[in-house]
Amino acid sequence: MPAECTVGESSVIMHGVYARAFYTSARCALLVVAATALADCSGGDPPYHPVATVDQVMDAIVIPSSQALFDAVVYENGVLVQSPKVDDDWFALQMHALAVAEAGNLLVMPPRAKDTGEWQTMSRALTDSAVKVAQAAEAKDIEGMLATGSEMYAACTSCHRKYLPTE
Ligand code: HEC
Repeated sequence: MPAECTVGESSVIMHGVYARAFYTSARCALLVVAATALADCSGGDPPYHPVATVDQVMDAIVIPSSQALFDAVVYENGVLVQSPKVDDDWFALQMHALAVAEAGNLLVMPPRAKDTGEWQTMSRALTDSAVKVAQAAEAKDIEGMLATGSEMYAACTSCHRKYLPTE
C-alpha cells in the first residue's frame, strides 16, 4: 500500500430534517486496497477473493454512496431546497443505493465479518434498507427517499454503536 494514500478525518454534518450525513475526504485519487486475505486460504477456497478491510469498504463504497443519498433530498425549515431533478439524477441515486446494498454483502464475507451473529444481522439490515432506498429512487419518490434514507441511517448507527471502537 503506498504511504501517500491517507484518508482525511471524518466529521458529521447535520442538515435538513432527516438528513444527517457522514463526510470523509479521501486523499487518494485511486483507492488501493491491500490483499490481506491471501494468507488464510486453505482448502475449499471460495470463488470470491476479499481484498478490502471493513474500513476500506466504508471509505470506498458505503460512505461516498450513502453521502450522495443523504444529500439528495434536503429540507431547510420545512422548505424543500434540494431534490433530484432529471431522470439521470434519480438513476444515479438508484445506483448509489444498490452499491450500498451490495456493500452489506461484502461486510458479511470472511475475513471482514466480526462474528456470525449480530454483525450478519446488521449487515443484512444495511442491504435491506438500501434496497428500499433504491426502490424509492426508481419510483422517483422524494418523501420515500427521506423515509428510507433515515432507515438506512439507522442501520449505520446501530452497527457503529456496537462495533465502532470510538462510539
Ligand atoms: C455491519 C456494520 C456496519 C454498518 C452497517 C456500517 N458500518 Fe460504517 N463502520 C463499521 C466499522 C466496524 C467501522 C470501523 C472500521 C475500522 O476502523 O476498522 C466503520 C467505520 C465507518 C466510518 C469511519 C471510517 C473512516 O475511515 O473514518 C464511517 C464514516 C462509516 N463507517 C460510515 C458508515 C455509513 C454512512 C454507514 C451506513 C450507510 C455505515 N458506516 C454502515 C461498521 C459498519
